[in-house]
Amino acid sequence: MFENKHKIESFKKKIWLSSPTMHGEELKYVQEAYNTNWMSTVGENINAIEDTICRDIGCKYSVGLSTGTAALHLAVKLSGVKPGDKVFCSDLTFSASANPITYEGGTPIFIDSEDDTWNMDPRALEKAFDLYPDVRVVMLVHLYGTPAKVDEIKNICSKHNALLIEDAAEALGATYKGVPVGNLGDIGCISFNGNKIITGSAGGMLLTDDKQTANKARKLSTQARENAPWYQHEEIGYNYRISNVIAGVVRGQLPYLAEHVSQKKEIYERYKSGLKNLPIKMNPVGIENSTSNYWLSCLTVNEEAMCKQVRSDNKALYNKESGKTCPTEILETLCSYNAEGRPIWKPMHLQPVYRMHDFVTREGNGRAITNAYISGGNLGKDGKPLAVGEDIFKRGLCLPSDNKMTIGEQEKIIKIICSCFE
Ligand SMILES: Cc1ncc(COP(=O)(O)O)c(C=O)c1O
Repeated sequence: MFENKHKIESFKKKIWLSSPTMHGEELKYVQEAYNTNWMSTVGENINAIEDTICRDIGCKYSVGLSTGTAALHLAVKLSGVKPGDKVFCSDLTFSASANPITYEGGTPIFIDSEDDTWNMDPRALEKAFDLYPDVRVVMLVHLYGTPAKVDEIKNICSKHNALLIEDAAEALGATYKGVPVGNLGDIGCISFNGNKIITGSAGGMLLTDDKQTANKARKLSTQARENAPWYQHEEIGYNYRISNVIAGVVRGQLPYLAEHVSQKKEIYERYKSGLKNLPIKMNPVGIENSTSNYWLSCLTVNEEAMCKQVRSDNKALYNKESGKTCPTEILETLCSYNAEGRPIWKPMHLQPVYRMHDFVTREGNGRAITNAYISGGNLGKDGKPLAVGEDIFKRGLCLPSDNKMTIGEQEKIIKIICSCFE
């Protein structure tokens, strides 16, 4: 068993970043699907979760799908993105937000984050429309459960006649001015992936108030069958519908959304108070009038407390310095104690696959390749300040945020993090 100078014992049972929290009722609905033989992409569980989500989120229509990525793909397609079209997309996110734009032959142009929410900076979006006035679709992510500045973003979208897709995969249960996220744009997408706040093991949903969009999503998700006595196809479809078995798991989970959010909030608050004497900042959990679902607790190490850290495309190195640390050291230390953290999403414009795509900051500069994140200091190689998202990636990490982590286990995690600053 690993033991260090602080006599902190390793966790016998791994502490996860965010693992499924089951309640038992999931099995009842899975069993029901089995007993009634609706082991298919049709059935009562699917109807039930679509009704519940419409009621809880307040949207008129919802379509259960196999993944959040499938929902995002259909959202992009139904927004009319055609080959060659440029689409504005949050830069600091998981690749699943951007890839569906590429599936349709579109070109994502990445928009920098802001410090207030870590989400798309409305000032950068405004600049992006100055540079690319023809863009008609914006993909907005609510990162780690914290709502973006939706009013500002929506105003800019309506000024430019652009549709807004919300990637609310990480943010089910969060609200903006009293409205649940996922119901703020033209199309919303949520995920029931295994690490999300509500899970079916997999699964996703497309949310909309537009009947035609919902019907089209349903049709495209079931191989685009036409209304005919045989299999008739006039367009290309997909096998994207959710399974009634998986929907059974989601159905059993959904009544626990508020409970999961409050557990995640407690975890966040405990980190905030336990780490308050360290030179760190917790991730933003909302501007005025918005509430996060606290999906993942994250921190950034203050610049003056960062030891030298170098990252290539697949390796990270750091120089230990007394009184200083970096995300690499904290993640490696947590891992050595059998606890799982994770780096902040690496910004899309720094990804080899998207490196040549344009990227717009609030200064309006489209810097496609900065490589700034591999330098030790606060400036990029070009001497300009790092983009906001690059800086969050450089100095930030996601902390173990599992609902089932006990207070005692979390106190130990806090001690381990503190030890990195010694
Ligand atoms: C921001 C974001 N968008 C999209 C997805 C894709 O969801 P799924 O895994 O259900 O396809 C995820 C998570 O997996 C995500 O974190």
